Amino acid sequence: MRALLPIALAALLSAGGCAAKEEEKTTAEPPAPAFKELPEPSREGGLSLHEAIAGRRSTRTYGSRKLTGVEVGQLLWAGQGITSPRGFRTAPSAGALYPMFLYYADDVALWRYEPLRHGLVKVVDGDVRAEIATAGLEQAPLKRAPGIIIVVAKPAISAIKYRGRAERYCTIEAGHIGQNILLTAEVLGLGACPVGAFHDAELLDVLELGDDYLPLYLIPVGEAFEP
Ligand SMILES: Cc1cc2nc3c(=O)[nH]c(=O)nc-3n(C[C@H](O)[C@H](O)[C@H](O)COP(=O)(O)O)c2cc1C
Repeated sequence: MRALLPIALAALLSAGGCAAKEEEKTTAEPPAPAFKELPEPSREGGLSLHEAIAGRRSTRTYGSRKLTGVEVGQLLWAGQGITSPRGFRTAPSAGALYPMFLYYADDVALWRYEPLRHGLVKVVDGDVRAEIATAGLEQAPLKRAPGIIIVVAKPAISAIKYRGRAERYCTIEAGHIGQNILLTAEVLGLGACPVGAFHDAELLDVLELGDDYLPLYLIPVGEAFEP
């Protein structure tokens, strides 16, 4: 019995040690993963298209609630999700070349949406929303939103086929993507606002992109909130 005592004591202590470690684990901020899979998007239900079109309004005030993974996934999928085994996407693209990229900024990180894996790749660790708001002329919706979607083009991809018309086509594609996202926000009961006023170079810096990319839209989004 006496021989067993140290073993029991050691077991108790080590259990205590584990508990302390557990506490450490739960109190410390867990590092955001480099890749975050998003929940499968819904392909049915919700408001009718007519109702979403009729109800959509640019909303510039939001509640502080963070968007859920389901909401983020549904919004980004609406913008650039893959909807065909041949790789076609939710929004039309000239020549199906898909020169458009979506980013999402929240309190944790700046993420790039990856349509193929329907997930988020971490680009910048940490909250860059204030920097985006600064690039966006300190507009209130950008400062207040729990999430900001950024629509960016790489015109060289479209230029392979469309040469001088590539930028025009990218701008048109940003419109399709933006509208899909805005209507989806309406279906989800969220508020969103398309924002076109920002400094390109400053925004590209935040996104860690070169000037071969063209930022076209910022879409702050959050729980619709009437002050
Ligand atoms: C290309 C474009 C750029 C816009 N830029 C901004 C902007 O920088 N800031 C803003 O608050 N709203 C912006 N808006 C939203 C418009 O102000 C809004 O669409 C307009 O007032 C009509 O209201 P509605 O969207 O509720 O129908 C933009 C809209 C478009 C289409």
